[in-house]
Amino acid sequence: MHILITGAAGMIGRKLTARLVKDGKLNGQTIDKFTLTDVVAAEKPAGFAGAVDISTGDLAAAGAADKLIAQRPDAIFHLAGVVSGEAEIDFDKGYHVNLDGTRALLEAIRHADGYKPKVIFTSSIAVYGAPFPFAIPDEFHLTPLTSYGTQKAISELLLADYNRRGFLDGVGIRLPTICVRPGKPNKAASGFFSGIIREPLSGHEAILPVADTVRHTHASPRAAVGFLIHAAGLTRDQLGPRISLAMPGVCCTVAEQIEALARIAGPKVAARIKREPDELVMRIVAGWSERLDAKRAATLGFTAEANFDEIVKAHIEDELGGKIA
Ligand SMILES: NC(=O)c1ccc[n+]([C@@H]2O[C@H](COP(=O)([O-])OP(=O)(O)OC[C@H]3O[C@@H](n4cnc5c(N)ncnc54)[C@H](O)[C@@H]3O)[C@@H](O)[C@H]2O)c1
Repeated sequence: MHILITGAAGMIGRKLTARLVKDGKLNGQTIDKFTLTDVVAAEKPAGFAGAVDISTGDLAAAGAADKLIAQRPDAIFHLAGVVSGEAEIDFDKGYHVNLDGTRALLEAIRHADGYKPKVIFTSSIAVYGAPFPFAIPDEFHLTPLTSYGTQKAISELLLADYNRRGFLDGVGIRLPTICVRPGKPNKAASGFFSGIIREPLSGHEAILPVADTVRHTHASPRAAVGFLIHAAGLTRDQLGPRISLAMPGVCCTVAEQIEALARIAGPKVAARIKREPDELVMRIVAGWSERLDAKRAATLGFTAEANFDEIVKAHIEDELGGKIA
């Protein structure tokens, strides 16, 4: 089986590649080739005996997707994208990558005769817009309030139509916020949800710009990779016509996140969080969804962590080699 991953150098792309290398199989079939594409060069996965093609370039550039699809990968994980903050600041870039890149990929697939790959697309809960019900069901209308959410919603519609027309077997997974995001702090407005756990655990101070009462839904990078792999195994019959759906996650307040950190790493670590309210971040976060009704995902067998303690533990195991600073 040949697997293509777009956005392979990104956080989820790297973790997905590593997990697939470890498993050696997808849907029971042996993986013999990876094509890893991104604007920045993806790393060659360690410990993989099969073929690896590292392709560097803009997926939305003329001919780029056709070149990738000419190799007829069996499964495509389409993760390439720019994050919400960037898509809001740079209108052109957001539409270019998140929409034109997706369309180029879908068009390349459509034009390859007799080819029908599995396409797993990472959408986002940003496809929903306030005002929200208590818990957002999959059937909640898509009225995004950001350019990023709009680009993801359009991509979902395209994916569903290409699926309906039989050009591919698609599935779109609406990811909640992935936490704890490893690496350096980034400028995303949601960055603090990860920062308040990641930074104290590695001995650094973290800024909390919102109130402790802010509620949000999270899943770990490990869970996100699990969603992608599980999605790849779902059949057309299982999915029906509504091929995009929200993933499960842990719904909790910032106070509950901090309590979990203190329980696992001790109060000294949790004391590294400094409260510095930021009006702008508070305003942005107030427009985000808090709670998702992910019953359909659960019925289809998607699983996430049961509580925030598990998310903190997953980070300590996967990123810190079990050690807390
Ligand atoms: N992390 C989250 O909390 C979250 C939540 C919801 C949805 N998602 C979606 O999941 C996917 C992966 O997320 P991530 O956290 O790994 O993001 P990331 O930013 O770490 O990775 C995205 C990758 O896409 C690449 N990319 C950007 N423009 C490109 C282009 N024109 N051509 C090819 N590659 C390009 C980037 O270089 C980057 O490596 C994205 O589509 C994102 O929108 C993520």
